[in-house]
Amino acid sequence: MFEHLRPQPEDPILALMDRYRADPRTDKIDLGVGVYRNSQGVTPVMQAVKTAERQLVDGQDSKGYTGLAGDPAFIDAMAELVLGDVVAADRVAGAGTVGGTGAVRQGLELIRLARPGVTVHIPDPSWPNHRAILQAMGMAVKTYRYFDAEANGLDMTGLLEDLRAVPAGDVVLLHGCCHNPTGADPSDAQWQEIVATLKAAQVTALIDLAYLGFGDGIAEDAFSTRLMVQELGEVIVAVSCSKNFGLYRERAGVVLVTAADADARAVVQGNLATLNRLAYSFPADHGARVVEMILNSSALRAEWATELSEMRGRINSLRGELAAALQAETGSDQYAFLAVQRGMFSRLTATPDQIRTLRDDHGIYIIGDGRMNMAGLSKEDIPRLARAIAEVCA
Ligand SMILES: Cc1ncc(COP(=O)(O)O)c(C=O)c1O
Repeated sequence: MFEHLRPQPEDPILALMDRYRADPRTDKIDLGVGVYRNSQGVTPVMQAVKTAERQLVDGQDSKGYTGLAGDPAFIDAMAELVLGDVVAADRVAGAGTVGGTGAVRQGLELIRLARPGVTVHIPDPSWPNHRAILQAMGMAVKTYRYFDAEANGLDMTGLLEDLRAVPAGDVVLLHGCCHNPTGADPSDAQWQEIVATLKAAQVTALIDLAYLGFGDGIAEDAFSTRLMVQELGEVIVAVSCSKNFGLYRERAGVVLVTAADADARAVVQGNLATLNRLAYSFPADHGARVVEMILNSSALRAEWATELSEMRGRINSLRGELAAALQAETGSDQYAFLAVQRGMFSRLTATPDQIRTLRDDHGIYIIGDGRMNMAGLSKEDIPRLARAIAEVCA
């Protein structure tokens, strides 16, 4: 039977990681894979996570199954973190998922079940897995304009034009904050315009929130999600705990759905549970329970918030320093966007040849589309990186 299988194309990010590992140079710089690194180049386990895990190991007296939707206390805590108080709790359905990827997948499964044949509109560009998952599910996918590569910023005019043309009843996927791969986020005022456009177009929003707290803060980064819930009523939010809790391999995530009322919520909740049953029965529990323990303990929550703000501060200061170093190297403001953009990623406008030269001649590893993981940088690397970019991309 397997003779009909075709080899899958290699994942460009994982392939780049392999090349990086095999590179013997000691001064190589990895800006490829999307994980946070501290000043020692390590992706750390947060202290709040360590403490919660110790408490969990000591206090847990059963590994029996949870519910199909996972630990209800985790879902409630995440709903409160993400949505604040903009929606009554009896309108919020939710299910634990296998990371943020699982949340996107289960959100799309719900959409497909609710509205077979629907088209999902994703930004151009977007996280490559959005299109890949949609295509694997056989769902129709279109793109809307998002990024102005010339200006290295949001293409607000194109974005609004395209959103206005989305047929009523379709689904629009939006990155709630820290857009991957561009780092270009709408301002609050621009979000107001975008949400008004979505409302007028009578479309459903699916929000991918993989970097809550990595941009400007929890409330700031949740602004767009909360606004959409307030203005649009029915919203699906795919949330990842991989980055903001540093729980990458534990696969903690949640799909939250705000329904029209409590009755509709009960139906959505039952469908989310069934979709989990069909995919993996029960979501993983360890990471979710750690998150719940942190969010429900004022001491652990405060410690986590401090650690998260240190991570955010580090990324934003690296952004500022790289922009300044490039300003000094090139004598122009063409890289000023790096300091303004948010989250782990920004995009370097570079040809494939330039990306290759950066890698081969300078040991600088950047993904082929120019996406740079700012959180992979160390301060010491900045002068060399700026010099190399100025030399190669001039
Ligand atoms: C935009 C976006 N959505 C979802 C995810 C999924 O994250 P997770 O590792 O929790 O599955 C990522 C991770 O890279 C992402 O960048």
